[in-house]
Amino acid sequence: MNINAMRARQSRPSVARTYSYILGGRDNYGADKDLGDSFKQDLPGSEQLAITNRAAVLRAVRIMAQSGVRQLIDMGCGLPAEPNVHDVARQHQPEARIVYIDNDPFVAPHGRALLAIDDRIAMLEADVRRPQQILEQPDVERLIDFDQPVGLLFSAVLSFVENDEDPAGVVRFWADRLAPGSFVYISHFRPGQTREAAATEGKIREAFGGRFRSDAEILSFFGGLDLVDEGLLPCRQWHMDADMPTTAEKELTSWEELIVAAMARKS
Ligand SMILES: C[S@@+](CC[C@H](N)C(=O)[O-])C[C@H]1O[C@@H](n2cnc3c(N)ncnc32)[C@H](O)[C@@H]1O
Repeated sequence: MNINAMRARQSRPSVARTYSYILGGRDNYGADKDLGDSFKQDLPGSEQLAITNRAAVLRAVRIMAQSGVRQLIDMGCGLPAEPNVHDVARQHQPEARIVYIDNDPFVAPHGRALLAIDDRIAMLEADVRRPQQILEQPDVERLIDFDQPVGLLFSAVLSFVENDEDPAGVVRFWADRLAPGSFVYISHFRPGQTREAAATEGKIREAFGGRFRSDAEILSFFGGLDLVDEGLLPCRQWHMDADMPTTAEKELTSWEELIVAAMARKS
């Protein structure tokens, strides 16, 4: 990368780095830190959006692995964030194979260093809007056996796919190829009811673009797949665990309403 491209990258916040900063990550630039701090200072509590989203996707991974899934594709994986998807999956499936995918060129080198720790994990710089290109990647062919159940994660990534880029078609592409027993997990931004929620949505959209969709639109991405038990819920409430009773009891904040999750299983 030449010096001008490097400067341009550093002067604008990226969703991957800002999200990582809010979660406590260290791989970010001043622009990401400034934006992350402005969320925390101007809209205190809005960081829960990132925190509850991250916790929910890790619960999804745990459920998948406990159900016997030993291969996962993490679409729009973001920067490494301990624990990572493979850490959780391997607690239950020590041989689990994982393909991490992100289109941010900053993510891939960090991911290769910290996520792709052995030859059963790959980190690919690729665009979820181009599923055929992802499918043809040698690492996907090597690591993912589509005759066996796969766990497919779309955690807070389809919000960055525009309607004319066919997010439902992206999910369908993979769903059509999945073996019975496979899971599809989606978390997604949706509009909130309060002034603070609207301000948060405005700030996110101004910085990164992206769409806040209605519950019906988000659910439509699952196509004909069968939703598992709880359906679509705010991430904080989605599959709340017995080990988190205090947060489960708390009323949702207006920010926690902004990010919802659901999971389907192919029968
Ligand atoms: C909010 S972060 C979520 C990270 C992680 N999935 C999680 O939930 O913890 C969204 C991620 O999606 C990535 N992303 C956005 N659009 C993408 C695309 N078209 N293809 C691949 N990755 C994308 C961003 O670079 C970023 O890392």
